[in-house]
Order: sequence, then C-alpha cells, then structure tokens
Amino acid sequence: MNFLTGAVGMANGVGRTPPLGWNTWKTCGEATCGHDVCNEGEVKSAANAMLENGMHALGYNYVNLDDCWADTRNATDHTLTWDTTRFPSGLPSLIAWLHERGLKFGLYTSAGNVTCSSGGRAHPIPGSRGHYALDAKTFASWKVDYVKFDWCGDIKKDLAAGREAHVQFAKAMNESGRPMFLEVVAGYFFMWGEIPTVANSWRFCTDHHDEWKSSSVQLTCRLDQRKKVAGAPGGWPYMDFLLTGGQGCVPFSKGAHCPGQTDDEYRTTFALWSLTQSPMIVATDVRNMTAVMRQTLLNKDLVALHQSTGTPPGAHLAYWECSELLGCEVWGRKITPDGNSWMVALVNRGTKAHKITVKWGDLGIGGKTPAAVTNVWDGTSKGNATGLYTADVPSHGTVVVKIVVG
Ligand code: GLA
Repeated sequence: MNFLTGAVGMANGVGRTPPLGWNTWKTCGEATCGHDVCNEGEVKSAANAMLENGMHALGYNYVNLDDCWADTRNATDHTLTWDTTRFPSGLPSLIAWLHERGLKFGLYTSAGNVTCSSGGRAHPIPGSRGHYALDAKTFASWKVDYVKFDWCGDIKKDLAAGREAHVQFAKAMNESGRPMFLEVVAGYFFMWGEIPTVANSWRFCTDHHDEWKSSSVQLTCRLDQRKKVAGAPGGWPYMDFLLTGGQGCVPFSKGAHCPGQTDDEYRTTFALWSLTQSPMIVATDVRNMTAVMRQTLLNKDLVALHQSTGTPPGAHLAYWECSELLGCEVWGRKITPDGNSWMVALVNRGTKAHKITVKWGDLGIGGKTPAAVTNVWDGTSKGNATGLYTADVPSHGTVVVKIVVG
C-alpha cells in the first residue's frame, strides 16, 4: 500500500534500475529440450557460470526459475510445495546458496488456478488463485527477491477479474513483509497507464521466441507502449526474455549456437532491449557463451547505459527513408541530460542491406556541430562527423554508435 496516496502501488523500493539476470525458460534441461533447465544442480551451474563469465560483475544478478519449480499444495496448510525431485534440498536452501554469492532469486506463479505449462510433468501445477496473500507470505518467508505473475488457468477467460487480480496480488506482495520485485505478464492489458502502481515490470506484447519475426514484433509493440508508459525507476516495460544466441531455444533449438536468429538479429535485439531499458532476463544457456553472447551481453557501454537512470529510456526517434517502406529506423537515448552525448541505434528491419543516416536534427543537436562517433559493437572510432552520420547496416542488423559533441 502506498500510504501517502492511499493507492495500492509498488512503492516497494525495488527495481530502481531495470533488472538484469537469467531465467530457466527456454534453456534446455535435457537432450530433447522437453523442459527448461530446472533442477538445483543445473541452476547452480548456470549461476556459477554467471559468476565466472563476467555477467555478474556487470550487474546480472537475478537467477529466476520459470514455470518449472512448483509441484502441488500442502494438504494441511495449503502452501505451495516445490518439486522435490528437482529441488531435493528445497528452495530456501537454493536461495540461501545464491544469496551467499551475491545473487538474487526469482520464481514464477500464475494469477489463475494452474500455471501455463506443467514443466514436463504429468500433472497440472497449481497457480496462486485463491491464495494470493498466503503465497506472497510464503515466498517472502523463503526470501524470494522476484516474482513473475503469469496469466493462465481458470482466470484466463475471466477477463473481468484481470484488474482486481493484479491489484490484489500487488497488495499481497506489499503486505508480505519483504520487498520483492513484481513482474506481471498480462497486467498492462487490464490497467494500461496505471500499471506502474501494481508492478515493477510488465509485458506488453506476445511471448518473445527465438525468431526474427517475434523480435521485430516486440519492437513494434514498444513503439505503441512508449506513448503510454515509458519506464522509470520502480516500473519498467518488459519486452520479454532476452534471446541473444546460446544453447537452448525451445522450440526452435537446432544446435549449439541457437540458430533461431542470425548474429545481426541478436545484435538488434540486444541494442533495443538495452536502449529502451527493458529488463534483460537472459533465457539462453549462459554456460555456453557464444561469441555474439559475449559481444552483446557483456557490452560494458550498453549495460552501463541500461542501468543508468539519469536520462529517460531510449525511444524511436525517426524513420530513415530507405527503399523498403518503414524498414530503416533511428532509435536513441541521451547519455547525458544536456543532450550532448547520445547512444544511437541505426536499425534495419528490411530484407536487404541499407545505408541508414542519423541526422543531428533527430537528436536536437545543431546541424553545424561536430561530434565524435564511435562504433559501440567493436569500439572503433569513426572520427568526427558534422550534421549527420551514415552507416552500412545489414538486413535485420543494427549499428550502434556513441555520438559525443565537442
Ligand atoms: C507463458 C509466459 C512465458 C512462460 C510460460 C511458462 O507462456 O508468457 O513467459 O512463463 O508461460 O509456462
């Protein structure tokens, strides 16, 4: 409860910057990719990889279980129970292990009576409907840091219950005694501009799959979302899982490099997720870092800007007229509030290579002002430019440049 306004709100003090982390979903748990990486050994091995591969040092600190950890409800006290085959030591023990290493822990539940998938098991998995206060208290007692609140089970067709369910669950979280980050999957569609009062992050589009069409749809959704709620400390629009290449891409998995998309497409994904300050919860196998995963996930400039709250989130700035209608876009974010320093993404959603130009006018910089241009993917200096900068951008690719006046 927000005591100042009397409104239910996520005045819970968490999510001051958009979360960075990893989630089990879509990272294959076994050879046939029948379910995600979801048992204590595998989750610990992913966490250890984050500690060793440079991710944790850059701020990726959430380790989140998706729809794969719960089993049933205790017949006596009705608390949710974890799957003891997958988590023989129990969730509180796993959470303590993660906390000892400077990591945070997240889990999943649904607003309805069952979750969206049985996680490879033969029986349905209970959701939280009818038990919001109990579940929030239980999660708090286990020392959970992040809860994903999905929209499956009997509530799915009960659209009239959507708003109230989100208000009630947010209230339960706020009264649980522990500040826990709250991600909602469907809440935005019930609450629109009010969503930051009941969530720390919200999805606003369809599920993100490891295919270009799906990544591009997320960008199109963001064009609309930006007008209603752009994102600010405490509440972030979420373009769904970050998929940037790595093993495990259910249901599109074809091999070690997660070939659902090209490296150019993964660079586009990372550039736009980071510029718009979408939470970046990686859902590919961080134990097998591919070259493009290192180039994107570990890009110091882009991760640092993603975590900076000194300027508003990045946005679509302009279309560049290329030969494919609306295929060439300029997105960008001020690095400094004075607007003398920018991170700019030249995005080619077209089917062939294009030259794309950012004009200083798109950035509010005087046309005669010289500015230093640096390519952010490889760190190369592009020298000084005046009035505009043009780059060759491959199909579905994105060139990211830092533009600094003076
Ligand atoms: C829904 C969500 C996904 C994932 C699955 C799990 O589809 O949108 O992100 O959590 O459920 O079953």
